[in-house]
Amino acid sequence: MSAPARVLELAGASVLVFADRPSACRAAANQLADTLRSAVATRGRAVLGLATGATPEPIYAKLVGMHREGELSFAQVATYNLDEYYPISPFDPNSYRSYMHRHLFSHVDLPANRAHLLDGTVPEAATTEHGEQFDRWIAADGGLDVQLLGLGRNGHIGFNEPLDLPVDEALKLPTRLVDLHPTTIADASKDFGDASRVIRRALTVGVATILAARSILVVALGPNKAEAVAQSLHGPITAQVPGSLLQSVPGKVTWILDEPAAQALQG
Ligand code: GLP
Repeated sequence: MSAPARVLELAGASVLVFADRPSACRAAANQLADTLRSAVATRGRAVLGLATGATPEPIYAKLVGMHREGELSFAQVATYNLDEYYPISPFDPNSYRSYMHRHLFSHVDLPANRAHLLDGTVPEAATTEHGEQFDRWIAADGGLDVQLLGLGRNGHIGFNEPLDLPVDEALKLPTRLVDLHPTTIADASKDFGDASRVIRRALTVGVATILAARSILVVALGPNKAEAVAQSLHGPITAQVPGSLLQSVPGKVTWILDEPAAQALQG
């Protein structure tokens, strides 16, 4: 198991910097597996908040490998995903439901009725109620043991995009329907073929729900994330950089970075 090349304490968070992408992903998978096992050992169950995007793919591959080796079971786990395009069919290959099925759910022993995603098919008039319901499900499940997060190039977490909003209001944002930011649409064009085909809205777990998790694991890799990482960790807490809102919960956030993503950090 590879150790981080550097460990920093920044803005109340532990920042683990790894020499390369594979060792960072291995560390993230190990940390998730440890959280899962210790929650199952102490409470009999684990509740995981999961993310999509390119970053978690190798992390899920590692978890699947551990499951195949008989080292990790999801039989006592419930999962809640961060976000989903809206509107979208669960059968669309670009839906996050499809992504999760491809990369994790179809390969492990997670019971089907414990793999929860926001539903891109609910009637538009019911999206607010659906978001509130999703937050209630998480709370009724005892809250998230860990929330896995990626980071958008614009600093978004889940699909909580940069907003002109006072910090105290941003910290209370619930799970809801949002408009995607132009940077997010540009980045998603590789999945949809071109920018004009990208679905413009999404359901996202809210900032308040993310911050309520008992621990938060942020994974950011590659030079494209360096600026958003530095703004999240060195910059002021602002809704314009949603990653910076993580500074408001000191002591429960771990950042896992590779050297290129950490290149703009000082300390
Ligand atoms: C996507 C997802 C986020 C993800 C982020 C980074 O749009 N909605 O949850 O963390 O953008 O994605 P990637 O890991 O592909 O860079």
